[in-house]
Amino acid sequence: MRIDILTVLPELFEGPFNHSILKRAQEKKKVEIHIHNIRDYSTHRQKSVDDYQYGGGAGMVMTIQPIADCIDSLKAERTYDEIIYLTPDGELFEQQTANQLSLQQNIMMLCGHYKGVDQRIRDLYITKEISIGSYVLSGGELGAAILTDAIVRLIPGVIGDETSALTDSFQDNLLAPPVYTRPQNYKGHEVPEILLSGDDKKIENWRMDEAIARTKSRRPDIIRD
Ligand code: ADE
Repeated sequence: MRIDILTVLPELFEGPFNHSILKRAQEKKKVEIHIHNIRDYSTHRQKSVDDYQYGGGAGMVMTIQPIADCIDSLKAERTYDEIIYLTPDGELFEQQTANQLSLQQNIMMLCGHYKGVDQRIRDLYITKEISIGSYVLSGGELGAAILTDAIVRLIPGVIGDETSALTDSFQDNLLAPPVYTRPQNYKGHEVPEILLSGDDKKIENWRMDEAIARTKSRRPDIIRD
């Protein structure tokens, strides 16, 4: 898979992809992540990327030219399965969307700033608009990092234990059950005895019951009938 991220703040991506699972996924050639500075494409003499809104109002709007030129140059090289715009008015990002996106070959993500991008960029180029939650961030960059993390860890071969991504919270519309490791007794707090029983069937049933109970109490909204 290849992910291209378009931003006016490329520095923000220096950290999140260079550690742990995302770092290993790139080393194993499971994913290529390319960050593009929208400002590099501006033909304006001061390399500006934003302008005042038509109709007045507070806040600047990202202009068409540098974004369109950046997207066009990438599209000339390959076909994109999705061109995603991170925006608080997009569809809420869910595990199901991460699952679908993890099956794609080429994904582009456009990070908005200020009041967002000129609507015509959205009309002409964007195939999917995604929000990572019902709150407003100062830009789409953290959203793009979150999408990238959630998607890349699902690519086959990225997580060592193949089954582990499938048992995450939200897969099967259930939260994950509690987990325990050593010591068996921590200051009088014991590991549930059933986990020490060696009875795989009973343990599996216990985990399912715990997952259902946790989901009912914490996230009843995600339970499927
Ligand atoms: N940009 C600003 N706020 C956002 C949000 N909640 N989700 C995605 N992109 C954003």
